[in-house]
Amino acid sequence: MESTTSALTNLSRPMSFRPPKGTDDIGAPESHVWRDVLREWEVWADRFGYPLVMTPIFEATELFERGVGDDTEVVTKQMYTFTDRGGRSVTLRPEGTAGVVRAFLDSGATGAWKGAYSGAMFRYERPQAGRRRQFWQVGVEYLDVEGPTADAEVIELGYRFLTAVEVPSLEVVLNSLGDEVCRPGYVTILRTFLEENRERLCDDSVSLIGANPLRVLDCKVCAPVLTEAPAMKDHLCEPCAAHYHEVKTALTRLEIPHREDGRLVRGLDYYTRTAFEYLATDLDAAQNAVGGGGRYDGLAEALGGRRAPGVGFALGVDRIILASVLEPAPQVDVYLVSESGPGEALVAASTLRRAGLRVDLDTEGRSVKAQFRTAGRSRARALVVLPVGGGDVDVRIDEERTRMPPQDVAAWLKGRLL
Ligand code: HAM
Repeated sequence: MESTTSALTNLSRPMSFRPPKGTDDIGAPESHVWRDVLREWEVWADRFGYPLVMTPIFEATELFERGVGDDTEVVTKQMYTFTDRGGRSVTLRPEGTAGVVRAFLDSGATGAWKGAYSGAMFRYERPQAGRRRQFWQVGVEYLDVEGPTADAEVIELGYRFLTAVEVPSLEVVLNSLGDEVCRPGYVTILRTFLEENRERLCDDSVSLIGANPLRVLDCKVCAPVLTEAPAMKDHLCEPCAAHYHEVKTALTRLEIPHREDGRLVRGLDYYTRTAFEYLATDLDAAQNAVGGGGRYDGLAEALGGRRAPGVGFALGVDRIILASVLEPAPQVDVYLVSESGPGEALVAASTLRRAGLRVDLDTEGRSVKAQFRTAGRSRARALVVLPVGGGDVDVRIDEERTRMPPQDVAAWLKGRLL
C-alpha cells in the first residue's frame, strides 16, 4: 500500500525529462547515421579478422587503477566509481582496453588473439560537443603480438573504416614512446629540459615535472616552449627505433598518409613504442581526435598476468558523427499506402517483410494524402499502393510505375531492390 501512496504523491511532483548532464538521447534522424556508422564498423572489423568481444560495462576499480594508471586524469578525476551492495568498489568502464586484456588473460588464450568491441564508456568530463560523460567507442585489441606489422595492420583498420564513414580531413599522427629500456633515460633528459624552462611553463605543467614529465608534452598552453623540447624519437634504443621505422615503412607501403609528431603522448599510462591518433582536422582542436591507440607491451603484466604484448585503438563514435559527411541510408525499402484500411496494409507488409524487404506503413487509418506525405519523408525507393477492394496493386520505384497482381509484388521488388 505504501508504494501506491508514494507513486500517487509523485504524480503531482514535476520531474525533468532531460537526460543526465553530458549524456544524450539519440533518435531518428540522427540515429540513422549512428546505425550506418556502427554497421560499417562491423564490416571493417570482420574484414580484418576481428571477432566481437563483449566485456562488462563495470569492472573492479583496481583494474583501471592498475591498467590505465593511478595518476592519470582518467583515474583521478573522471571515473564513475561506487561501492556496490556487497561492499566492492566498482567503476563504469572509462575505456575498453583494460577490460579486454583482463578478459583475454582470464580466457587462457595463447598465441595471436584479436577482439573488436563497440559500446558505451563513461568519463566524468566537462561536457561540450564531442566530449560527453557517456560516449561510444568502437575499437580493437590485438594481443600476444610483437612485430611492427601488427601495429600497421591495426592502424590501417582504423584508417580504412574512418575513410569509409566519410570523416573528411583525416590525419594519422604517429610517435614512438619507447620502452622500459630507453624511456627512463629520455624522461630524465626531458625533466632536465623542463626544469631549465620552469619559468616559461604553466602551473599545471610545472606540477607534472616530478611525477609525469611526459604528460607536459600534451600541454597546449606550453606548446611554444615544448617545440624546443627533446623528442623521444631521437632517444629510442635500437630495437624501438627499428620497430618504429618498420611501422612507418609499412604504412607508406599501404598508402596511408601519416605524419610524425614527436610530442604526441597519450592520456593513458599503458603505452609503449607506437602511439597514434586519428585527427579530423575540420573539427575544433578540443575534440578533433576521433580516435587513438598504440602498443601496450607491459599492460597484461601490470594487471598481474603473463607477458602479452599488444596493440589496439579506440575511436570515438560521437566525434565521428560530428565530423562525418555521410548521407544516411533510408530506413526502409518500401512504403505501403493503403486505400482500403490499415488491416489490409499490415497483411501485405507482412508478406513483403518475410520476403526480406524493409517495409513501413500507416497503422492508424490516416488519409491517403497523409500516407503519401509520410511515404515521401521515409525516402523509401519503392511505393506500393493497395487499391480499394483488392485487385492489382500500383507499384512505383524511382521514376517507374507499374501495376501487377499482389502475389507478384515481393519477387518483383526483391529483383529491383536487393
Ligand atoms: P582515448 O584516447 O582515451 O583512448 O580514447 C579514444 C577516443 O575516444 C578519443 O580519441 C575520442 O575520440 C574518444 N573519447 C574519449 N573520451 C571521450 C569523451 N569524453 N567524449 C567523447 N569521445 C571521447 C582509449 O580509450 C584507449 N583505450 C584506446 C586504445 C585501445 N589504446 C589501445 N587500445
